Amino acid sequence: MSNAPSNPSASHPPLQLPKVVNIPDLGPVTLRRLRPTDSIEALTDLLHKAYAKQVRMGLHALASHQSPAVTRRRVSKGECFVAVLFDDEPSKERIVGTIMFQEPSWGSTPSSGPRWFHRPDVCNFSQFAVDPSLQGKGLGILLLDLIEARARELGLRELALSTAELDTQLVAFYRKRGFRDIEPFDWGVTNYTSLIMSKTL
Ligand SMILES: CC(C)(COP(=O)(O)OP(=O)(O)OC[C@H]1O[C@@H](n2cnc3c(N)ncnc32)[C@H](O)[C@@H]1OP(=O)(O)O)[C@@H](O)C(=O)NCCC(=O)NCCS
Repeated sequence: MSNAPSNPSASHPPLQLPKVVNIPDLGPVTLRRLRPTDSIEALTDLLHKAYAKQVRMGLHALASHQSPAVTRRRVSKGECFVAVLFDDEPSKERIVGTIMFQEPSWGSTPSSGPRWFHRPDVCNFSQFAVDPSLQGKGLGILLLDLIEARARELGLRELALSTAELDTQLVAFYRKRGFRDIEPFDWGVTNYTSLIMSKTL
């Protein structure tokens, strides 16, 4: 019998987006899905800026240097959500945060990726970034809550991630939010060993 959820959305309300959240010191932030009209270059810049902190630690995540073409390919494989600020006027919106959600179908090629990601009840997220000038204000938690809600809406039981094992502060950040260590994994595109973590929803 499959472990896949049989009754998604039964007990969790559908995600209502776009959603505007008021953040102290920041004002209204809009959470929504990435749109075809959004700039992939701007999204890539945001990833580079946010992951520069890990680069300074000697950890070269793919998101720290990937090209816009790679960002486009990666976002096409799942659901990309963004946090948007409006600078002065509504037409001047700016993407200040992002997170990428992937359903369990990711593991369709059993020979690739971490074993944990191949389980039918495990979804995952990646490309999780907040503009460095706006970090520590709660945007990251908002984005994380959003994909937890998305996973619950789909009836999925486990939300997993891959992070640099050596970024101990970040690992602590996830542990504090209910993620547990699963297994080390080497993606072959980074210069470090990753730690696969997962949270039971
Ligand atoms: C991880 C990240 C998205 C979090 O976004 P954020 O907006 O700063 O997070 P929030 O303000 O919502 O979170 C606040 C809490 O997380 C902590 N925190 C945030 N980023 C952290 C980090 N990189 N390491 C350790 N703790 C972190 C804050 O100290 C705060 O903790 P507290 O609630 O115990 O006081 C952001 O730091 C980032 O873009 N990092 C660089 C890219 C990256 O490493 N992405 C994840 C790869 S797996």
